[in-house]
Amino acid sequence: MVKVTIDGIEIEVEPGTTILNAARQIGGDVVPPTMCYYSKLNGSGGKCRTCIVKVAQGSAKDPRPMPKPVASCSTPVQDGMVVQNITSPELLEARKGVVEMLLINHPLDCPICDQAGECDLQNLSYEHGLSKTRYEEEKNTYEKIDIGPYIKLNMNRCILCYRCVKLADQLTDKRVHGVLNRGDAAEIGTYIHNSIENDFSGNMIDVCPVGALTDRTFRFKSRVWFVDPKNAHRDCKKCSGKVVLWMHGKDDIYRVTGRKDKYGELEEFICNECRFDKKDIKDWVVEGPRVMERSSVIAQNQYVLKEPPHRINLNSVELVSKNVLTEGGN
Ligand code: SF4
Ligand code: FES
Repeated sequence: MVKVTIDGIEIEVEPGTTILNAARQIGGDVVPPTMCYYSKLNGSGGKCRTCIVKVAQGSAKDPRPMPKPVASCSTPVQDGMVVQNITSPELLEARKGVVEMLLINHPLDCPICDQAGECDLQNLSYEHGLSKTRYEEEKNTYEKIDIGPYIKLNMNRCILCYRCVKLADQLTDKRVHGVLNRGDAAEIGTYIHNSIENDFSGNMIDVCPVGALTDRTFRFKSRVWFVDPKNAHRDCKKCSGKVVLWMHGKDDIYRVTGRKDKYGELEEFICNECRFDKKDIKDWVVEGPRVMERSSVIAQNQYVLKEPPHRINLNSVELVSKNVLTEGGN
């Protein structure tokens, strides 16, 4: 085991563990945000620099600091390493610069974007962004295209995190999309607009951290905070069948997604049949309300505190759905 100290908290981890995963083992605010790393996708990470940290001491053997911030998702810990994330003001300043770069070509169209309310970039800019931009050039713009019957690509919003490409490589049998060109001309493209038709392609929607890939069966049906998420499962031959049903009223299923963990990553990938074809409540065994993060806008107006307010620590409270949505009422 090797010892590493992150924001003053010491932990022992397996050799080869990345700084990010060591921080995740500690949990809480010391965990750097991520936009391209995805623990279930091999080779992900290293693209967006959101997860940068300051290495104040390289190791016990060589205590020199690292000269620049490093991507925590792809830097392994060394024994005796000392890392700073939220305890370093200059690192937080550097992360603001990363967010500013990510937003250079990203449109500020959150009011009309289907990902609003569950967009990692929206959350990141809220927590680490600047309220204005210094960028004066015109943003890159692209036509929206349909990738097959279920997925809409809005390249204007893509941050080129490569998650969807890794997913298509590793989870589907025939990838027909990828990143074309390089530098500021890079874009997600499907070769001659081939559609993506395979059983697990819908997971690309869930791994996309922004609104670049959205569910055509759900687009513009409802704001995500007006629907009521419930855990449900079915007996499925292709996947675990464990999903979240996004309900409107008691019986209408507006959308089906996989279940995401506290880092916004899918716990398990689900098949397209569960995601797109099973929109009848009779297809599912509903387990109960999905517990949402206290900070999530999805929790607004629908959730009550698990414990009475006088007993809770507001930093760690979880909220649980009260299921107050009624038919037709948002
Ligand atoms: S479409 Fe989404 S998942 Fe794919 S590279 Fe762009 S931002 Fe990442
Ligand atoms: S999450 Fe580490 S570089 Fe993107």
